[in-house]
Amino acid sequence: MGDVVSIDGPAGAGKSSTAKEVAKELGFLYIDTGAMYRSVTLAAIRNNIDINKDDEITQLASDLDIGFKRIDGEYHTYLNGEDVSKEIRSSQVADLVSPVSAIQGVRNVLVEQQRQMAEDNNLVMEGRDIGTNVFPDAKYKFYLTADVAVRARRRMQDYQQNGQDLTEEDIIEEIKKRDKIDSSRKFAPLKKPRGAYVIDTTNLDFNEQVKIIVNRVKDKSGKFNLKQI
Ligand code: DC
Repeated sequence: MGDVVSIDGPAGAGKSSTAKEVAKELGFLYIDTGAMYRSVTLAAIRNNIDINKDDEITQLASDLDIGFKRIDGEYHTYLNGEDVSKEIRSSQVADLVSPVSAIQGVRNVLVEQQRQMAEDNNLVMEGRDIGTNVFPDAKYKFYLTADVAVRARRRMQDYQQNGQDLTEEDIIEEIKKRDKIDSSRKFAPLKKPRGAYVIDTTNLDFNEQVKIIVNRVKDKSGKFNLKQI
């Protein structure tokens, strides 16, 4: 079993960009679990499966092959061998991903895969339930949060980079709706994991966020702590 750094928090708190850089600096694998829930959602849309049919969506999730690859420093998500990195970021997928990820069967399938990834690897894993449910005993747990307006602005940049024009009001609505479903669902809701170090990124810049996490991991592990060598 490898070391796990868990990074949880709501949409737009800065998890993905931070987690990628932290993984790079520590030499750990980076796993974006949101991309896994998004891939299941995309497959459901493509296969015209009603998202209220829990059993059908769960069966679909267990039939899918979801994987990641790092190419020239960029992370790509693959669904049955196809690069879906861009498609899973569409607003159609964002609209449906929260109800899909609330299905217990879907979570069981994906959580099992996430645990297996840590068997032989050190990981930085980001999501909503990593420190609470996937790896409750993770040694390094972080919870990132930020004001909703700041989170919406960050999401807007993501959408613009993806060629989609949404207004800030639309995005605030989307984020609030997702926060509500993600934190009130029955199975593994979004909440601060016990023992997690909370970082409010509202007024932090990216490099500061990364530094706080990397330094804490290094200090706690002792492995990287130069003072102890
Ligand atoms: O981080 P993201 O926006 O890509 O996540 C998309 C959705 O997936 C999010 O609204 C909730 C769900 N999710 C989850 O339920 N558990 C995770 N570990 C990661 C994401």
